[in-house]
Amino acid sequence: MTSTNDPADLDSLELGLLLEGLHRRHGFDLRDYSRASLSRRIERFKQQEGIASTLGLLERALREGDLWERLLRELTIHTTSMFRDPTFFLAFREKVVPLIRTYPFIRIWVAGCSTGEELYSTAIILHEEGLLDRCRLYATDLNEEVVSQAKTGVFPVSSMKESTGSYQAAGGQRPFSEYYTVRDELAILSPALSRTTIFAAHNLVSDASFNEFQMIFIRNVMIYFNRSLQDRVLRLVHGSLCRLGFVCLGRRESMRFSPHEECYEEFVPGEKLYRKVRE
Ligand SMILES: C[S@@+](CC[C@H](N)C(=O)[O-])C[C@H]1O[C@@H](n2cnc3c(N)ncnc32)[C@H](O)[C@@H]1O
Repeated sequence: MTSTNDPADLDSLELGLLLEGLHRRHGFDLRDYSRASLSRRIERFKQQEGIASTLGLLERALREGDLWERLLRELTIHTTSMFRDPTFFLAFREKVVPLIRTYPFIRIWVAGCSTGEELYSTAIILHEEGLLDRCRLYATDLNEEVVSQAKTGVFPVSSMKESTGSYQAAGGQRPFSEYYTVRDELAILSPALSRTTIFAAHNLVSDASFNEFQMIFIRNVMIYFNRSLQDRVLRLVHGSLCRLGFVCLGRRESMRFSPHEECYEEFVPGEKLYRKVRE
């Protein structure tokens, strides 16, 4: 039997117990998320909540539903913005849209959609290119709260104003304000933009695929996963994508060294926009 007094080992053991408990109690499996990022966030959360130890946090998170909700929100990072990485959206508009226009069905999955900015940016481009009505979009995230927020299509007007430059850099030529009305510092996006979207909770770690797609956005989601979890999720993505379909990853993510690397070509180099060329 081995035991340790090394504080780093004990911290790691406590963190493992917390993640195991959350998995068993709430069904959310964060055990293969990057430990460094989780540790930082858990420390911050403990400070905010005035909880002295990780085991103390576990005890409360098992019993208090609202504390667990706050913890989940802290651990799953929701940072996003409209037309994030505008050159990516420009490449989508100029290089991908002309091809998907020729497809008989266009199903697009925005996985890890957070509060919806990526979904609405995509919808605006599809609308401007005359394709939105022919597309079915699926916007999913493991966190139900952000999915509900995404569904409302309501954002702070300040953030919409900040995104105007990104919209233009992504090839937008209309006044960006054409897409929303303003009430009490809130921008309410035109409901027409989400008319063909289904919003749903979906966990990429534990839920199965639910359709075959021509395009999958999964941007800035896997940066928080360790390598084996990235591989698992990429297998799900691969199995959900039609041949010649497109996958979009975030700036700091890559298909390199993934289980299906040889099945993809880099469709727009530098934009993490890949096309499935083999099964
Ligand atoms: C940093 S945000 C990225 C948002 C958007 N895709 C973008 O690039 O702007 C990451 C999102 O992934 C979601 N996420 C994390 N783990 C997930 C999982 N296992 N299944 C589905 N979504 C997950 C988080 O809840 C969060 O909303």
